Amino acid sequence: MLEGKNVNLRVAEKDDIDFLVESINDLNFEGEYVPIEQYSKSELMKGFDNPSNLQILCETKTFIIQKKDGTRIGIIWHIANQPSGILDIGYNIAPSERGRGYGTEAVQLMVDYLFLSRNIFRIQGATNVRNKASQRVLEKAGFRIEGTSRKSSFVRGVWTDSNLYSILRDEWKEPKILTRTT
Ligand SMILES: CC(C)(COP(=O)(O)OP(=O)(O)OC[C@H]1O[C@@H](n2cnc3c(N)ncnc32)[C@H](O)[C@@H]1OP(=O)(O)O)[C@@H](O)C(=O)NCCC(=O)NCCS
Repeated sequence: MLEGKNVNLRVAEKDDIDFLVESINDLNFEGEYVPIEQYSKSELMKGFDNPSNLQILCETKTFIIQKKDGTRIGIIWHIANQPSGILDIGYNIAPSERGRGYGTEAVQLMVDYLFLSRNIFRIQGATNVRNKASQRVLEKAGFRIEGTSRKSSFVRGVWTDSNLYSILRDEWKEPKILTRTT
């Protein structure tokens, strides 16, 4: 468990499958700026049983974002790009829980965890150029914009531009919030 001030991150388990299916297939949860993808429960279960079956649960490692009382409010994941080992992150907060700092704290926790646990130099995240909330989250977590990838994401039938953000180990320096692994 990665413990923050207001949210904790824990690795997704089979018990989370209903939350994951419901969330990932909910267009409001996914938001209007990310590609639409639908998954069946059995597809996600296969991902747990054999991680090579499904990207969303293998090279992608998925964490549940939960409040201190255990309520699940979101998902955050990291994806290892091979062979570089560069890590991408992605995240969602349930619509009813947005605007309370949970997304920012979850990203800060993930950045702390990745820099503390891996000998990597950078972490990156891409957002639709129109996704101001996501860009703000990355900026507040210490990421800097690198540039715009043109027509790099197919969102709701339209090729859209994405901004690439990154944070380097030198810029991170030390954990911003209390991070504990158990
Ligand atoms: C992006 C997302 C994770 C943010 O989560 P959150 O918990 O609401 O984020 P926070 O509360 O920590 O911070 C949100 C920041 O964005 C700002 N923001 C929100 N909507 C905004 C908008 N339309 N324009 C500008 N800023 C906006 C908020 O004001 C806040 O910044 P502030 O603290 O400086 O005021 C959430 O909106 C979400 O899940 N969206 C759908 C999925 C998604 O887009 N994921 C990211 C894909 S790259």
